[in-house]
Amino acid sequence: MERLQKVIAYAGVASRRKAEELILEGKVKVNGKVVKELGTKVSNSDVIEVNGVKLEKEDKVYYLLYKPRGIISAVTDDKGRKTVTDLFKNVPERIFPVGRLDYDTSGLLLLTNDGEFAYQMTHPKFKIDKTYVARVKGVPTIEGLKKLQRGIKLEDGKTAPAKVSMTSFDEKAGKAICEITIHEGRNRQVRRMFEAIGNPVVKLKRERFAFLDLVGLNPGEYRQLTKHEVKLLRVLAETGKIE
Ligand code: URA
Repeated sequence: MERLQKVIAYAGVASRRKAEELILEGKVKVNGKVVKELGTKVSNSDVIEVNGVKLEKEDKVYYLLYKPRGIISAVTDDKGRKTVTDLFKNVPERIFPVGRLDYDTSGLLLLTNDGEFAYQMTHPKFKIDKTYVARVKGVPTIEGLKKLQRGIKLEDGKTAPAKVSMTSFDEKAGKAICEITIHEGRNRQVRRMFEAIGNPVVKLKRERFAFLDLVGLNPGEYRQLTKHEVKLLRVLAETGKIE
């Protein structure tokens, strides 16, 4: 079930705000009845009309982007900064990022117009792994890394157990490279986790999302996911494993 204004926006009829206006003006019908409630939830089987015209559902599309640093993970930005959707030329569907990467984080970001898929990929209950490579200040101690593995207390609660390893370190230069896999997606989570053990992140990149990686792409480039990849991601979310 999705909110009516969101479904109208995804169908490409109007922006979300304009869709809300249309609803309030009584120009939207669900299964033949005028609906003026903004919170109304609709399902795939509901017939929606806007200004007397039946909504044609947009085909679902799925993209994998190598997000460069210095760009916002959003559809629009009120400060006029460049967003990830600006990188997509000739894509008529109203795509949006699946979760977010910070302005300064690079790496693998999925974009889609499928709200349910985005929910499955981001809600922690579906446990979809996201793997990051972090260059950190100083060399984390074994105890520090263990804390990250077990879960560490942050201001918004304890993190779920994570897979963490240190791939290289340079004691003299005071830096290390760590790999961390988490399935939660709290705001600036990886940065806050390393901050909490006293090794702030200097550079962060998401290398993998479930079984997907960035092979073949340069920063700013994207490709469509194959139907098989989309299916596998759904199976992974729904069953916790793929064959
Ligand atoms: N964790 C962070 O701190 N930043 C990101 O962009 C993603 C995960």
